[in-house]
Amino acid sequence: MYYLKKSISVFSVMLGMAVFTATSQTPNRFFPDKELVTTGIYYYPEHWNESQWERDIRKISEMDFEFVHLAEFAWFKMEPAEGAYDFAWLDKVVDLCAKYNLKVVMCTPSATTPVWMRIKYPETFIMDGHYIRGENGTRGLASITNPSYRLFVEKIVTELAKRYGKNKHVTGWQIDNEPPAIPDYSPSSQETFRKWLKNRYKTIHALNVAWGAAFWSQWFNSFDEVIIPNTSLVGWWGNNPHALLDFKRYLADSQAEFLDFQAGILRYYISKDQYITTNYTAISTGADARRTQKLDFATYTAYPNGGSDNIGKLGFRLGDSKTILFASEFYKSVGGVSGVMEIQPGPVNWGSYNPLLLPGTVRMWLYHSFAAGGKLACSYRFRQILYSSEQYHAGIMLTDGVTASPGGEDYMQFIKEIKGLRQQYKPGAKMPEKLTSRSTAILWNLENYWTIDRQKQTWQWNAWNYPVKFLEITKALGAPTDIIAESADLSRYKLLVVPAYELADSALVKKWENFVMKGGHLIITCRTATKDRNGHFWEGPIAAPVSGLIGARVKAVDMLPPGNNGDVLMNSSHYKWNNWADLLEPVKNTEVLASYDNQFYKGKAAVIKRKAGKGTVTYIGVDTDDSDLEKEVLRSSYQEAGATTEDYPVGVYVYWRDGFNIAVNYSSENYAMNLPAKAKILVGEQVLKPAGVLVWSE
Ligand code: GAL
Repeated sequence: MYYLKKSISVFSVMLGMAVFTATSQTPNRFFPDKELVTTGIYYYPEHWNESQWERDIRKISEMDFEFVHLAEFAWFKMEPAEGAYDFAWLDKVVDLCAKYNLKVVMCTPSATTPVWMRIKYPETFIMDGHYIRGENGTRGLASITNPSYRLFVEKIVTELAKRYGKNKHVTGWQIDNEPPAIPDYSPSSQETFRKWLKNRYKTIHALNVAWGAAFWSQWFNSFDEVIIPNTSLVGWWGNNPHALLDFKRYLADSQAEFLDFQAGILRYYISKDQYITTNYTAISTGADARRTQKLDFATYTAYPNGGSDNIGKLGFRLGDSKTILFASEFYKSVGGVSGVMEIQPGPVNWGSYNPLLLPGTVRMWLYHSFAAGGKLACSYRFRQILYSSEQYHAGIMLTDGVTASPGGEDYMQFIKEIKGLRQQYKPGAKMPEKLTSRSTAILWNLENYWTIDRQKQTWQWNAWNYPVKFLEITKALGAPTDIIAESADLSRYKLLVVPAYELADSALVKKWENFVMKGGHLIITCRTATKDRNGHFWEGPIAAPVSGLIGARVKAVDMLPPGNNGDVLMNSSHYKWNNWADLLEPVKNTEVLASYDNQFYKGKAAVIKRKAGKGTVTYIGVDTDDSDLEKEVLRSSYQEAGATTEDYPVGVYVYWRDGFNIAVNYSSENYAMNLPAKAKILVGEQVLKPAGVLVWSE
């Protein structure tokens, strides 16, 4: 057996000494281009009477879904008692799927453990910041560094992989569920954290320096003395930002290692035609998809409507337009392809309030994910459950189990329309030059979110939304935009946006400079390169490493109380700011694009630009309330790059993929798309209503 032959040590793997290696495969091959997107649905047979399984699966097939997502939380049924496995029930369901020509995405059940495990092995649960153990009742509370838990996971995944790894009806695997990278203060996590630190710092002195441990008597004499920094016990003011940054990194690394651990077991047994993925939350502030190595690609879960205002008077029914906007680009950048593994099928049970969606909204979300390149579109869940904490959560079917819900109707319409688009698909279509000339990258990583969110300096700073606002701007200007990592090849981009990229070093700044010298247009914004990788300030001016590149010193930083407006002047237009203002001192040959027009520093530069090599560097030191100033600055950068721009309203997003132009409308107003004379409308209407979709070819 795999787990007897290969005893994987948590710690050896985390220290980079993987027991075996398995490379992930080119993920595109799992999704034939001509199919565009494949659709699926979560089905939990364990929640329903066996006599209904065949009826349900037949219905899934009649609705034209193409795969069924199974077994994610069913550990209790797979291993009802320790070491006693039972897959007969799952075999029946897989056989039914085969009978009705449905593929299966098989899940590893590690997110919820059976009751016997809690009773006999309580250490398999995390400890919270008050050192209290978690217990059964929800998902994602396992202590992933705990050796007992790891052994049980290793065994169940091995059993599953051996049983279904060569089954031709199983198309792929999902590991775990929404990997949470949850803080764990248990003894096994403490131990693993110390090992992680030893590996990172080698000497305790280096750790003390990196953590600034001389402050408030935090100095350690050895690694054995280190404990996980715990804000629950030391309070907000007692936080050590450097230690907390490392704790976040450690949690994300542990989570990635745990996924890789499972992927490694699967890979050992399964066919190369089955893919391995997981389903991250669209906005994941803990788990970092970029840290895994053995998965084929990453998918995301999208719940845009949790009862918030969003755009305009209908926004509360349409959902947050930024959820799929960001997630689709970010997760695509991880493995080259992505898709949505869970999409909200209607009202959920956990929003601050849970209104009905505007008819067509689920379809619009599905199109949004598809437009941004999604290769699969799956929904949580087929039937609305009749009991449990999620009983108010909509399904694709109503509570009778046989009638499609409004979201189910939307889904069926999407599936039907995609079948139509497959007929129109022409291989080898190339993105039009008008769009490639606007190719844009936004540099983003989770570490900057962690460090800024910890020390915002003004409570009005939204560490998540700030970088995303630049994605909204580039999309409003009609630019195809990738979210990229530091290691990305920059050569195919005309514009590179670096928003509030706080942690940096001179090698990274050099890379940006090279991009500019070769003709790229770089936009850097406030807070960028203000700290080193440990989160320390530079012993020098603010943002010292970029001073030369931007052609200015950041002299000081201002922020205002709520409701108090700062004024910036650019090209005779006034813009309001409130959150953040860098006061800039440009050097000779640096052009001032915008200046502050009130406060005691009236006249100081707020936005500057300089030419360097064949390109330009623009620095935006101010965060305006409505992003209008930033949008105009970017518009002129596109002009400089020789590209035209569009002016789509907030919440209208337009994409090109595989020869199709696709627009979606999250706003509360109609929007008439300006189409070229040769445009052929394939889906929808030229006037996009709220929740409207338009697909056309040119
Ligand atoms: C997701 C989770 C699902 C389900 C859903 C409810 O975050 O992955 O299992 O609980 O939320 O909206």
